[in-house]
Amino acid sequence: MNIAIIGTGYVGLVTGACFADFGVNVICVDKDDSKIEKLKRAEIPIYEPGLKELVEKNMREGRLSFTTDIEDAIRRSLVIMIAVGTPPRGDGSTDLRYVEEVARTIAKNLNGYKVIVTKSTVPVGTGSLIEKIIREECPHDHRFDVASNPEFLREGSAVEDFMRPDRVVIGARSEEAKAILKDLYAPLYLIETPFVITDIETAELIKYASNAFLALKISFINEIANLCEKVGADVHVVAKAMGLDRRIGPKFLHPGPGFGGSCLPKDTMGLRDIAKRKGYNFRLMDAVVKINHEQRLRMKEKIKQMVGTLKGKTIAVLGLTFKPNTDDIRESPAIDIIRLLLEEGASIKCYDPAGMPNARAILGDSVEYCKDSYHTAEGADCLVIATEWNQFRNLDMEHIKELLKEPIVVDLRNVYDPQKMKRAGFKYTSVGRC
Ligand code: UGA
Repeated sequence: MNIAIIGTGYVGLVTGACFADFGVNVICVDKDDSKIEKLKRAEIPIYEPGLKELVEKNMREGRLSFTTDIEDAIRRSLVIMIAVGTPPRGDGSTDLRYVEEVARTIAKNLNGYKVIVTKSTVPVGTGSLIEKIIREECPHDHRFDVASNPEFLREGSAVEDFMRPDRVVIGARSEEAKAILKDLYAPLYLIETPFVITDIETAELIKYASNAFLALKISFINEIANLCEKVGADVHVVAKAMGLDRRIGPKFLHPGPGFGGSCLPKDTMGLRDIAKRKGYNFRLMDAVVKINHEQRLRMKEKIKQMVGTLKGKTIAVLGLTFKPNTDDIRESPAIDIIRLLLEEGASIKCYDPAGMPNARAILGDSVEYCKDSYHTAEGADCLVIATEWNQFRNLDMEHIKELLKEPIVVDLRNVYDPQKMKRAGFKYTSVGRC
């Protein structure tokens, strides 16, 4: 089977490489020439563990190719997956211009039955919109089906998530389209992955509901953490005990500076917008978004309380990405907190194992970029751990203490043990633990 994946961003590239590894012939398409040229040399534009090896292997074995020729890729494929960007507009709605553009190109190049699948997270109703565009703009009378097959990949473990998903969701109207997509995922039947086969609208909503629920869990535990600080309780013990209840589950109950990344912030706002357009006020999402925003401000206040005043102080920030094992700084709490600290007159020294080039592109010369954790701590008034990269979990704290002007550590990811840190002579604080 030949499939075309339109868009070689995060979702498209991982999906393409993984399907190729399942034995399918995959043509990955992007309109960005230089990106495609790099991909042809197996140069991966994002940091994602295991992806480069997978791309190299499948290119070598002839199942994965890259092109800018979208028309040819469409004509040669039975399944066309749309994985282009769906950026948020300022008001929380989703900009579908790239999806619509691809739908029009597909319409003009239909040369037989095809299944057109949305992989990008798209508002409920987008599948129907694509159907309408293709029906109206296709000059011939070819049959086609539209399907929704949302991805549930996490940055940093996307390949693993693709190969061992908790579930595969397929939304389509025709049995033919469902059968073709099930066939595409056939290797996952062997490991007994649950399949949810449903209609397009339900599949589209499943994606938003899933991400919004994860965001809800994070905002919930962050509120519990804030309360723990007030009543003298330990949020980790609370979360552990909560998580032992199988109805709640242990995951996504880690407190911190709030969720970031390209998905959770966008999808919480997106769900709220979808509801609003249908005249439904999704109050819970309002709260989730607000709590997440305020958590960043709280973290800035936490740092401020530890150093007294921020004006004229040097704050060392370890971690810039929205989470470890990625170079993605989109909606990163670390970046927002740095901006808040800068606004109050602090100077920033920072370091991240993978996110520095991206951070430099938006923070420019407003901060000092350091070569490692120790260089970052040198001469600073306070050390902030903003992202829980493994490199920051086992720092030589005796050395850090010598390097810092003041032995102050604000651990926004609760990586260190508060008692040990205090015994080691640090003025230490974290989130939701006394
Ligand atoms: C998220 C979902 O987890 C994926 O299932 C989904 O496919 C993806 O969005 C998407 O829609 O494409 P991702 O954005 O890669 O994946 O990151 P997560 O691992 O979900 O982390 C998001 C944020 O939540 C990070 O800033 C992380 O630090 C924070 N987080 C996560 C917490 O603060 N506490 C937790 O317990 C877990």
